[in-house]
Amino acid sequence: MLGKLDWETWSEDLSVGIEAIDGDHKGILDLIGHLHEAYDGPNGADAVRLAVGRIAAYAETHFQREERMLLVAGYPFLIQHRARHDTFRAYVAHIVMGTAPLPEVGELLSWLVDWWVGHIGTEDKLYRDHVRQHPEAVGGLG
Ligand SMILES: [Fe+2]
Ligand SMILES: [Fe+2]
Repeated sequence: MLGKLDWETWSEDLSVGIEAIDGDHKGILDLIGHLHEAYDGPNGADAVRLAVGRIAAYAETHFQREERMLLVAGYPFLIQHRARHDTFRAYVAHIVMGTAPLPEVGELLSWLVDWWVGHIGTEDKLYRDHVRQHPEAVGGLG
């Protein structure tokens, strides 16, 4: 079916070596993998906006956890990293609030998967070595 993700988006390649963070990343990709169900259901755009809202809320919890970890670790590129998170925040906020037209399912899924796989595989991986030298930053992650 068009728009259904029938491949596993998370793989060991995407591991940043921090269990709680990997868990968040798996969770978000899993939510995105189920997003097509909202398009297929009877409730149309409202159901999709609600499902995107759930993804946004989950992502926000993750971003805050990650940004707090990077702050405690004294990561020198926290501002740039947060700015990347902000591009995601802005995109989904427009969809949830209805200030942007609802993309068709394939377009929305490609944007979300590209953003997350790209972000985890590049910017999130960049902090890996720095954070490993600061175990105190990882200790408080739930
Ligand atoms: Fe990140
Ligand atoms: Fe992340």
